[in-house]
Amino acid sequence: MKILITGGLGFIGSNLLKLLSTKKEVKKIIIIDNFSKSSLKYINTICKYKYYSKSKDYKASNHKVTVIKADIMDYKLALKLTHNIDYIVHLAAESGIDASIDKPKESFNTNVNGTMNYLESARINKAKGFIFASSGAVFGTSKPPMKETYIRAPISPYGSSKLSIESFCETYSNVFNLNTTILRFSNAYGKYSLHKKSIITAFVKNIFNNKCISINGDGKHTRDYIFADDLCKAIYKAIIKCKGNNIFHISTGKETSINKLVDKMKYIFNNKSITLPKVINKKDRPGDIRFNSLSTSHTKKELKWANKTSIDLGLKKTIDWFLSNK
Ligand SMILES: NC(=O)c1ccc[n+]([C@@H]2O[C@H](COP(=O)([O-])OP(=O)(O)OC[C@H]3O[C@@H](n4cnc5c(N)ncnc54)[C@H](O)[C@@H]3O)[C@@H](O)[C@H]2O)c1
Repeated sequence: MKILITGGLGFIGSNLLKLLSTKKEVKKIIIIDNFSKSSLKYINTICKYKYYSKSKDYKASNHKVTVIKADIMDYKLALKLTHNIDYIVHLAAESGIDASIDKPKESFNTNVNGTMNYLESARINKAKGFIFASSGAVFGTSKPPMKETYIRAPISPYGSSKLSIESFCETYSNVFNLNTTILRFSNAYGKYSLHKKSIITAFVKNIFNNKCISINGDGKHTRDYIFADDLCKAIYKAIIKCKGNNIFHISTGKETSINKLVDKMKYIFNNKSITLPKVINKKDRPGDIRFNSLSTSHTKKELKWANKTSIDLGLKKTIDWFLSNK
């Protein structure tokens, strides 16, 4: 099986590469990444690879893992790289909600135009499947746990960009018979996330730098935290079972409040004789969703996947990784 991963040097991409590089069925992995959020730092600790810093130098070879520094906006390159590829896992995106509010057009260009380059290339080159990393952000403020069938009503340009591509995936399956699987991730955390601006990374960095932990609002708002190891096992299952058009929630279905999260981190750090800095509450962030989780019942039934790692264990593994990589 030959797999191309866009954005494969990022957080989820690195965790996925670690998993795929152990699979005998996976004969070839091509990663394309523009290094806007990442570098070769994580992959250097994961596996051997052939690296092309200029896409024009790329030649097909026998290396199991190839990394090409390039942008998904380059359509000609997308057509060339997806030739003879079985599955495309599309992770590259401008993934910040705040960034999409600051610069909506840039978010649209990367997340919609850039994605279309790979969806269209998958169609033209007759790929066996296209796996799209979507998000619970397509739902906006619906009541959790949100089911796959809920009405999609995003409240950020990021959510709207994911929704546009979800719609194109559905159309490409219906009209062109391209197998497309939409995976809506909840809030992911885990190894290889040093560069992220997510809440767990931000808290851990503040703890290391002995800076106050600041919570927007009263800390009672909730998120559905999914450990990246579990999430990547779901991506692999989705690759193997990619047929027709499917939407799966890759999540835990459970809500954890920010206050609870801080308590859990306090417990883990205290066991390592590290005292947590002061926690301060700031004003609510405008547009922040208060309660959030994605239902997993459809995924359990159809994809036969469920998350295995408890938040306590996942957090411990994440913090251990941060401690040895800071
Ligand atoms: N992390 C989460 O909690 C989460 C939740 C829901 C959905 N997602 C989605 O999962 C995907 C992966 O997220 P992540 O957390 O690994 O993000 P990340 O930022 O760590 O990884 C994205 C990678 O894409 C690369 N990239 C960005 N723009 C590019 C471009 N124009 N051309 C080529 N490469 C480009 C970046 O350099 C980075 O390595 C994204 O599509 C994101 O929207 C993530």
